Amino acid sequence: MLLEVQNLTVSYGNIEALHGISFNIDRGEIVTLIGANGAGKTSALLSLARLPKPEAPLITSGEILYDGKSIRKAEPHALVQNHMMALVPEGRHIFGNLSVQENLQLAAFSHRKDSRKAEIAAEAQDLVFELFPRLKERRKQRGELLSGGEQQMLAVGRTLMTGSNFIMLDEPSMGLAPKLMYEMFRALRRLNQEKNITILVVEQNAKVALEFAGRGYVLKTGEIIAGGTSEQLAANPEVKKAYLGG
Ligand SMILES: Nc1ncnc2c1ncn2[C@@H]1O[C@H](COP(=O)(O)OP(=O)(O)O)[C@@H](O)[C@H]1O
Ligand SMILES: [Mg+2]
Repeated sequence: MLLEVQNLTVSYGNIEALHGISFNIDRGEIVTLIGANGAGKTSALLSLARLPKPEAPLITSGEILYDGKSIRKAEPHALVQNHMMALVPEGRHIFGNLSVQENLQLAAFSHRKDSRKAEIAAEAQDLVFELFPRLKERRKQRGELLSGGEQQMLAVGRTLMTGSNFIMLDEPSMGLAPKLMYEMFRALRRLNQEKNITILVVEQNAKVALEFAGRGYVLKTGEIIAGGTSEQLAANPEVKKAYLGG
């Protein structure tokens, strides 16, 4: 298993957001965590990546194993620098006053200790531009002038620049027109198939998430209430009723 989350409990102060959730992801899989607003999806991703953010929750019990080793106490930067995981956060967080290309180059920081860093960054940028030709066309444009869909592609592109083998995405479909949304999911699937990048995507849009992922879990008010292949979940009467509009 690439990632094993065991009985994870996380809190914001006195508020427990995840009440002991367990799930796993194998290398090369696309897995989704679906759930309504407030279910705990972002909390789950933030507790895996543990970005040094004030809004990240505190892990109060449970374990996170990566390749069988605990990363519960690992430094967030070490996870990125060792190309173990990278998060595309909710709401994109790109630099509006920098160009597309500058945004991408900044994200290559995780290679700074590598003697081939310039070469690695150039290769990563080629990959991003191949996956998202729109970004190549707009490479000199400032981030703030991009459409919402293009900004989301740039946010994904920045994460790819880290060279991570495992990427996590927080509601990437949010606010995107269907055409751009499918373009983005197609690019992510190519990454998975051609580069063997493992993907965890959390989504409120259960329909799209189950079309995209091979397997998934349903998160409801901090607990996992169902899990299985996407086909199994899509056929589950409870999931259908609550998340797929009957
Ligand atoms: N910074 C925070 N402080 C306190 N409670 C929070 C914070 N962020 C989220 N929560 C609470 O944790 C629960 C899960 O939220 P979240 O992980 O953001 O859900 P989702 O991403 O599925 O919408 C919610 O009850 C939410 O109110
Ligand atoms: Mg969220």
